[in-house]
Amino acid sequence: MCGIVGYTGVNDALPFLLGGLEKLEYRGYDSAGVYIHTDDGHDMLVKEKGRVKDLEKKVVNCKMQGHSGIAHTRWATHGQPSIENAHPHISADGRYYLVHNGVIENYKQLKADYLSDVVFKSQTDTEVAVQLVGKFADAGMDTLSAFRKMINLLNDDSSYAFLLIDAKTPGLLYTAKCKSPLLVGVSKTANVVTSDAMAVLNLTKDFIELRDGEIAVISKESVELYDAAGQRSTRQPFHLDIDPAAVDKGTYPFFMLKEIDEQAIVARNLIEHYFVNGLPQIDEKILSAIKQADRLYIVAAGTSYHAALIGRRFFEKWAGISTEAHIASEFAYDHPLISKKPFFVFISQSGETADSIQVLDFIKKEHYPSLTLANVMNSTLTREADFALPILAGPEIAVASTKAYMAQILTQVILAAALAGGHDQLQAELSRLAIDLQTVIDGQDKIKELADTYLVHADRAFYIGRAADADVTLEAALKLKEISYTLVEGFAAGELKHGTISLIEQNTPVIALISQSKTAGLTRSNLEETMARGAKAMTIVTKNLASSDDDIILPALNGEMEMFGPILEAVPIQLLAYYTSLGRKLDVDHPRNLAKSVTVQ
Ligand code: F6R
Repeated sequence: MCGIVGYTGVNDALPFLLGGLEKLEYRGYDSAGVYIHTDDGHDMLVKEKGRVKDLEKKVVNCKMQGHSGIAHTRWATHGQPSIENAHPHISADGRYYLVHNGVIENYKQLKADYLSDVVFKSQTDTEVAVQLVGKFADAGMDTLSAFRKMINLLNDDSSYAFLLIDAKTPGLLYTAKCKSPLLVGVSKTANVVTSDAMAVLNLTKDFIELRDGEIAVISKESVELYDAAGQRSTRQPFHLDIDPAAVDKGTYPFFMLKEIDEQAIVARNLIEHYFVNGLPQIDEKILSAIKQADRLYIVAAGTSYHAALIGRRFFEKWAGISTEAHIASEFAYDHPLISKKPFFVFISQSGETADSIQVLDFIKKEHYPSLTLANVMNSTLTREADFALPILAGPEIAVASTKAYMAQILTQVILAAALAGGHDQLQAELSRLAIDLQTVIDGQDKIKELADTYLVHADRAFYIGRAADADVTLEAALKLKEISYTLVEGFAAGELKHGTISLIEQNTPVIALISQSKTAGLTRSNLEETMARGAKAMTIVTKNLASSDDDIILPALNGEMEMFGPILEAVPIQLLAYYTSLGRKLDVDHPRNLAKSVTVQ
């Protein structure tokens, strides 16, 4: 994880770097740091534990006017969050400053082999990289050669996006990447480096994407690219058509609420993108590749995995293709027997999740075909798979995923319909669903009240449901856990009596999700069983299955439409989590210990 940003240009670097870090904070916020070579020739390095705003308080009193610099926001992997472990790190002679996103897996070996005489200031793997560059430069190498030599010493399991400044030539940024995201932004007044385009949209929408193993040497006027063999190469920048306002909170207190509220719009955007003359349109090459498969394997992590569980039902029921959903970190090292003609679907918001990339690397070696559904196009998972489709959620900033989950489910629904053929009513059904989503979003005052009454003061809670509702309980539990720190389990309602019901005490909240007619009565009976043991029961039910005693009543989904139950249920489970976190006065967008894009395994 971690976010990196660098600037070399005609303007003051500090405001740009701090603004960039704020936008990259979703990638980690254990500590932050900035280095600037000032106009009067000083090397200014400021680091702070905690959030970017803590760093900002510290730099207020520092004279840091200069036209180039690098900055970092950290999600700790090696070494606890502290000022010493914050980036940038410095070489022993104080000449080189370096920030890093990724993991140097063989750092201990490198330390032993090359740096036994160096006194380290941190416990990080990163410091090894900058000390190596310093060492090689001391031995007479120029900076580019020393940087390349360091990179060549990293083993294959390592991942990196590096950004280096040599204090002797402060106007130049040295940067390289492998398995971690990195873009070079180009403009008339400055050239910049960033982990994510969103962080620098106020300056440019034109980017050069670095390939794994490449190095770029960047000045304010030029970007020189070198391939892994050290040969000069050139590449035209691509233009990113994105509205900077999309990465702004506007009047919302938190990004998460904004993103929950945007879900009806996301549904409409998907309809507009994927339907032509009322029918779902997916590239024929993708459809025919999937149709040749005897089994679909959907691979993803976290919330995206939960979206895969929902999508799986559509591929099986509508398209008639046997489908399995898998947790990426498990599949990478312990996969089931793979069918004769598999097809792999990767689902990801960021497109950079290391666990999923690991599986993609493996299946590519086996020559299995693949498709990625992702929010960030041009990301590793979209580039490396055979095919990619956008989920079009728009930038998702809050660490807890909401609208991307919705978009992932809807994109799978559309793909399943295109595979199945027919479904000429789907556009109308999804348009109706978008209206229903808005109705649920508009009814959030009631959901806030329920969160305050049931959840804000609870130390544990359970979500229960059956069939498709059981899949949603997993996402409901994850959302509530990650941003409110409540211990929550999502459970197939019928399983409760086989052990877990012993955890039900007086006033333990148990929330039942009910949208499936076949199992509605059974889920209600299981809820009664918990109430008989003191549970404080809450129900989230579609109107056609509801009675006036139910707590949250969702629009009706009759007949075949009940397959869309999980889509409507997404909103109240997200809002319950949001308002519980808010009621506990937590930082909703930045839950502790987390980062949005998990680029380590
Ligand atoms: C939870 C959440 C995570 C991500 C997971 C995968 O709210 O956002 O569980 O879903 O880290 O990330 P992506 O979708 O970027 O592959």
